[in-house]
Amino acid sequence: MKVLNVVGARPNFMKVAPIVEAMKRRGAEFAPMVVHTGQHYDAQMSDAFFRDLGLPAPDVYLGVGSRSHAAQTAAIMQRFEPVVVNEKPDWVIVVGDVNSTLACALVCAKLFVKVAHVEAGLRSRDRTMPEEINRILTDQIADLLLTPSRDADQNLRAEGIPEERIRFVGNVMIDSLFSQLKRAEQSTVREDLGVAGKDYAALTLHRPSNVDARVTFKRILEALDQISHRLPIIFPVHPRTRKRIREFGFMDLIERNRNLHLIEPLGYLDFLRLYSGARLVLTDSGGIQEETTALGIPCLTLRENTERPITVEMGTNVLVGTDTERITRAAFNVLDAPQDKQSKQRPPLWDGHTADRILDALLEGTRDEE
Ligand code: UD1
Repeated sequence: MKVLNVVGARPNFMKVAPIVEAMKRRGAEFAPMVVHTGQHYDAQMSDAFFRDLGLPAPDVYLGVGSRSHAAQTAAIMQRFEPVVVNEKPDWVIVVGDVNSTLACALVCAKLFVKVAHVEAGLRSRDRTMPEEINRILTDQIADLLLTPSRDADQNLRAEGIPEERIRFVGNVMIDSLFSQLKRAEQSTVREDLGVAGKDYAALTLHRPSNVDARVTFKRILEALDQISHRLPIIFPVHPRTRKRIREFGFMDLIERNRNLHLIEPLGYLDFLRLYSGARLVLTDSGGIQEETTALGIPCLTLRENTERPITVEMGTNVLVGTDTERITRAAFNVLDAPQDKQSKQRPPLWDGHTADRILDALLEGTRDEE
């Protein structure tokens, strides 16, 4: 079975790597190809992940780069269409909720090529997020919806999606996490940053709603300033966020704080090594809410909603929004709580074997057609 695996942006790589690896292992059944749209293209946002995750170099690189949402989505569609026409895959796999996910799913739907969506069914119910639009539309047109949690199944049913298209397989990102945990121990990132054996926090921030609005971004920085009196904060900065820091003139404010350390974006293994040793993680990312849940690390999510409610149910994740006082209070609550009381529950099927269940679902989906 020929399968095109689509990657576009940073959060896609750790979802596709275990799928491609499983397909190679089951080479009698699967012939995988990797298509990279080029939505993310910087060495630190893309190449580093191929290396760290052992993902084979893309068979096809579409090189779309950064543009407005419409222009980026359109460019991906235009460049992906001839690839599908030429390669005639049995299945196309799209993952997550980035523009590349929707663009490639839409191409397949129009060409009547079967497309499977990995990480289907997540909903924040916040349509101001570009990802929410990408999730809803991709799930409407994909043939097979592979969900990471039972709440996702419910969301899909509530949108009228027939049961036979939905399959609960678990969280494939956790396959990558478990398989790389040991290798990440080789990383010297904690030593390099001077936080080995110490309490520190790790921070990521890139959502447009947080960093594109000056007032919101400033409120967050004020909270970070207060938290940094208690422990150092390591902040690998996304290119979007770095741009805004410059535009809003926040660099002085940040540099004055000796305990808030801005660094370049980290590769997969270094970042895993960093957050896995953190006393506390602050983030507005989707994936990091899940990774901290899998490892039982306290996470404060700087958003008002989450498409991943299971992380809150498990007790590791707290939604704290963007209010200075609220973020600070929640951080101090974590720092004042005994560490051994922290949750060690893991959601069902976040077990490191999701990729094989995805492959089984593809085989079954093909048999059903025949
Ligand atoms: C995208 C995804 C988001 C995901 C995030 C992870 C969409 C709608 N958004 O957001 O869901 O959480 O990736 O990182 O698909 N840039 C670079 N180098 C790069 C990539 C981007 O400098 O390799 C800069 C460009 O100036 C670009 C900006 O970052 O304009 C934003 O990139 P873009 O891909 O539009 O969205 P992200 O914010 O990265």
